[in-house]
Amino acid sequence: MESTTPIVMGSDHAGYALKKFIKEYLTVSDFEVEDCGTFSEDSVDYTDFGIQVAGKVSAGDFNRGILVCGTGLGMSMVANRFKKVRAALCNDLFSAIMSRRHNDSNILVLGGRVVGSELAKEIVNVWLKTPFEGGRHRKRIEKFDTI
Ligand code: RB5
Repeated sequence: MESTTPIVMGSDHAGYALKKFIKEYLTVSDFEVEDCGTFSEDSVDYTDFGIQVAGKVSAGDFNRGILVCGTGLGMSMVANRFKKVRAALCNDLFSAIMSRRHNDSNILVLGGRVVGSELAKEIVNVWLKTPFEGGRHRKRIEKFDTI
């Protein structure tokens, strides 16, 4: 993925530190990042930030988004309520690669209380650079739209 691809990000308080770390990493790597918050470790509802980010990806304003909460579970649940969103909770490298190859994931979800920052950076790297394989996998993901 080209570093000109804009990325929309969001987190709750439990994901704030990891979001900040990844945002800084992406920014120095020349990615354009829109940060929907949260902007501190004060307690907030992950739902509010998942809705903002998934809404922008669903609307086509962004092709890629990254969400972080404590486990990644709540964020992936809320994001996958949105049409055209394929949010993948990937706290390991293999899942991140396969979520791109087979599922064309367009939102990466991370657990800030699950993965360390260096692993998260590698997960983001492989997720951004791994292409969708298409073919038989395309017809499978297209069936999501029939629900
Ligand atoms: C916040 O305490 C925590 O519940 C949230 O970050 C997330 O893990 C929810 O799924």
